[in-house]
Amino acid sequence: MDKNYEELKALKKELEEAYEQLEISYKELEEINSKFVRVTDLITNISIDISMKNYFGKLLSYFVELIPEISYGCVLKKEGDFFRFVSTLGHSKKLLLDTAILTEEFIEIKEIENFYSTYIKNYDSLKDKIFSAHKSLVIPLKTYELYGYIILDLKDKIIKKVEIDLIKVMSNIASNFLMSRELYSQQKNFLKNTAFAFLKAVDFYDPYTKGHSERVSYYATTLAKIIGKEEIINDIFLASALHDIGKLSIPQSILLKKEKLTCEELEKIKEHPVRGEELVKTFEGFEKIGKIIRHHHERYDGNGYPDGLIGEEIPFESRIITVVDAFDAMTTARPYRNSLSINDAIREIIKNKGKQFDPYLADEFIKFLKINKFLEEV
Ligand SMILES: [Fe+2]
Repeated sequence: MDKNYEELKALKKELEEAYEQLEISYKELEEINSKFVRVTDLITNISIDISMKNYFGKLLSYFVELIPEISYGCVLKKEGDFFRFVSTLGHSKKLLLDTAILTEEFIEIKEIENFYSTYIKNYDSLKDKIFSAHKSLVIPLKTYELYGYIILDLKDKIIKKVEIDLIKVMSNIASNFLMSRELYSQQKNFLKNTAFAFLKAVDFYDPYTKGHSERVSYYATTLAKIIGKEEIINDIFLASALHDIGKLSIPQSILLKKEKLTCEELEKIKEHPVRGEELVKTFEGFEKIGKIIRHHHERYDGNGYPDGLIGEEIPFESRIITVVDAFDAMTTARPYRNSLSINDAIREIIKNKGKQFDPYLADEFIKFLKINKFLEEV
């Protein structure tokens, strides 16, 4: 009986220990799970247009947040024989102006002692800005070739295998992101070049306005940048470069006519935003660009064409193009009229604020012209 009782007691103890172990494992699992959930942020909540500085800044802070053994770090980007510091966490921000020369290439993740002083050839010139670490993890970032390295500086603790796995997942995500970004920028360049080819076609077709679309796209993208609308730059560039593409559907006898246009001829010219939209829309994914083009001759007061939209009904991007388009048209000569001086064109814009032009955009554009000394004094 006693023997049975003892055996039972031992079994109970064993079971209790196993349960405790299970609880610890469950807690660890929960912790890992929540970390992986956080990692999905790196994929889902990041725009492909984010600057590399911001992306890597985010990535480093995620590493520090998720893995307690990491205290700080930096990201090095390969530029020829040098590596530029593109992001730092914990080290001096002044490093962002520096480059490092590495004495060795790393192909896979490696834990390295005294990485900075041992593997950076020009360490002496950087050491005041580097917060030296006894141990670092060097993680290669690869796209088609080596992009650079993430350096994670460790506290003097053993880094667990599960955490190395997490680091691998995160750096793979980063490498994939860089790859997508590269493909995205190649695609963007292709579209940019295609848009430019069409822009040149309009220039050939209507030589009197040669250079107009190129200048409009420069002014429009600059204005979008100035007002902090980085997210629309791409669309603004494509739409402004192509805004007059609909002119290809208007007979040259009308476009190049030196005499005053008849009412019918004017109506024909006024079709170009709609024709432009029709043409551009044939490209998949260009519906929005088409819309912007369609409305670039609307007026803020609703008296424009083709749809007579009023104020904010007009797409914001179209309103940007309207003001810079008008400025360029006024300051260049056309077959039927001379050009206005820049100062006179500015006065026209001021006069038409809230009538033809969005008042806010008109003000911002005038500010830009003044800052860039396009004019002396208005
Ligand atoms: Fe136009």
